[in-house]
Order: sequence, then structure tokens, then C-alpha cells
Amino acid sequence: MEAGEEAPKIRVSDNAEEVARAAAERFVELAQSATRARGRFAVALSGGSTPKRTYELLAGDRFSGRVDWPKVHVFFGDERMVPPDDAESNYCMASEAMLSRLPIPPENVHRINGLGDSVANARLYEDELRTFFNDAAWPNFDLVLLGMGDDGHTASLFPGTQALDEREAWVAANWVEKLNAYRVTLTAPAINRAAHVIFLVTGANKAAPLREVLKGELDTHRLPSQLIRPLGGSLEWLVDKAAAARL
Ligand code: 6PG
Repeated sequence: MEAGEEAPKIRVSDNAEEVARAAAERFVELAQSATRARGRFAVALSGGSTPKRTYELLAGDRFSGRVDWPKVHVFFGDERMVPPDDAESNYCMASEAMLSRLPIPPENVHRINGLGDSVANARLYEDELRTFFNDAAWPNFDLVLLGMGDDGHTASLFPGTQALDEREAWVAANWVEKLNAYRVTLTAPAINRAAHVIFLVTGANKAAPLREVLKGELDTHRLPSQLIRPLGGSLEWLVDKAAAARL
């Protein structure tokens, strides 16, 4: 642990549905306190399959009425290089599960372009973030939601890739050999300036990597999720019993 770093909180729920509920609850609490304190809530969503249920819950009756949605600004932690209506698109998933069902002004949804040159798309996204965060030294998201792959990746920070060494850029175009594709991703230093970072991890296939990430030796090139250590912010892991089985 370094100065300014809080110990991560690990919260184990019975199953994936309970994790989704806990995540929706935290989203609502953090959105309420940010909109009350600063008049807006800047959240970066994660892709992958795990958060989908959280997004559906947020758009449903139980949670949607508790957030002042016009004050919410939605960003993305990473994106695949596909059109926005492709089933693989993180934007598409979030849009279908949540964004299209809520009164969020379209200009508050800041998506990463998945078409064309990924280096240019990364630059454009960083410019958009720099404008939103008033040219601050780093972005200060109120919340970054993350998932973790069974290889230890998070956002599109994959093991052994170049973006892991990024110290200055907020956004990187990251070549991922095993996917034979570029991904555009927030960098670890940009994520680490968030006020709150929450990982959602469920399923037995995540038990071994979760143990390694949380209890194993520090080896960030092999386990990029270990790079996520908010400086002055909080880090929470919302996990189910299956993923927590080896902790
Ligand atoms: C993506 C992600 C990625 C994801 C993990 C976990 O675009 O794929 O943002 O980092 O969160 O791969 O994915 P699952 O939730 O599908 O296991």
C-alpha cells in the first residue's frame, strides 16, 4: 500500500444477481452524492457480459427513479473496433440495457468511436475527456466500473500489451495480439484518478485469477487488473461466492 491509497473493500454476494443489485445500489448512492455535491455525475461504464444485469436494473422500476439522469454523464472504459450497433460493441450493450431507456440527454453519452483508425479514435476520445474535465491534469471520474477477464485483464488492458506501460495518455489504442485486434481503452493512470472504482466479478472461472490478482505477487504485465490502485479514491470488488471461492 502506498500513501493516499485505501485498502480495497471486497464484498461477497451469494450470486450474480445479488452482485448486480449491489452494484446498482452503489451506482445510485454515488450518483446521488455527486449530483448533490457537484451538479453532475461522471461515470465510465465497463463492457463485457457481467455488468449487463446491473444496467438493466438501473433502468428498471426499482432504481431508475432514484437518479437525476439528466445530470449523468456516461463514458466508457473501453471499446471494441466495431460499429455502434454491433452486438460486440460495449456502447451497444449499454445502450440497449440501460441508456436508451433512461432520460439521459444524448449529448451526455460520450461513446468511443469503433469505426476507422483506432489511434485517431483514441486521440479524439482523449480530447473529449480533456474538454469535459476542463483540461485538468487527469480525468476525475466519480465512478469507473470495471470487469476482469479470466486472464486478469481489465478494461482493454490485456496482459503483455503496450498500453500497460502508458504513463501520460488518458486513452490508448491497444493492439491485443490474442484478439488480433485493436481496442481503445482508458489507461491505468486515468482510471486511478477516479473517486471510486468498482470491479464486478462473477463465476467460477474467475476464482483462480481473482485470487492471483488480490493475493498473489505483484506482476502487472501478467495481471493488469493489479494496476488499478486509485490514488486517493476507493476501490471495491463486488464478487459472487463462486468467484470468491479461492480467496
Ligand atoms: C470488454 C471489457 C472487459 C470486460 C472483461 C470481463 O470490453 O470486454 O470492458 O474488460 O470487463 O473482459 O468481461 P465479462 O464480464 O464478460 O467476463
